[in-house]
Amino acid sequence: MLNKKVEKALVAQIEKEGYSSHLYLAMAGWAESKGMAGIAKWLYAQADEEREHMLKFIYYVNERGGRAIIPGFEQPPVDFDGVQKLFEQVLEHERYVSKSINDIVAVCLEEKDFTTHNWIQWFVEEQIEEEASAQTILDKLNLVGNGSLYMFDRDIMSMRSAEDTAE
Ligand code: FEO
Repeated sequence: MLNKKVEKALVAQIEKEGYSSHLYLAMAGWAESKGMAGIAKWLYAQADEEREHMLKFIYYVNERGGRAIIPGFEQPPVDFDGVQKLFEQVLEHERYVSKSINDIVAVCLEEKDFTTHNWIQWFVEEQIEEEASAQTILDKLNLVGNGSLYMFDRDIMSMRSAEDTAE
């Protein structure tokens, strides 16, 4: 049976992962409307991954005898202030999610729920990757500068293809 404090933290994370998916969908739609097909592709794929993360939390809570409540999601922004700012926002958002995952780890330890502690390690690892890929994109953007946005868009498109092949 799932510890109540742990369950509360996991259910709260359902909302955060689902909102992440919505946020990246909103970003993907914005990029697509600006003709940036590669950036849109990366963000659509990222939105799918976040939905998978949300489902992992839902399945786990229910499997352990808890109740995975499906929340409403806040409306994500409609407009973004350029590609650089958009990816800064992605990185900032992933750091926020990492902190939230770490907080769940702390609750697991406090409540001596070592099963959930073990289960959530996948997310601890995933957040390292999520932050690193957002940082890599920002580094690339800094290198190419806004003058070569076309090249950057092509580059990020191939990044996603490489990641999909690796999975
Ligand atoms: Fe599911 Fe990007 O955190």
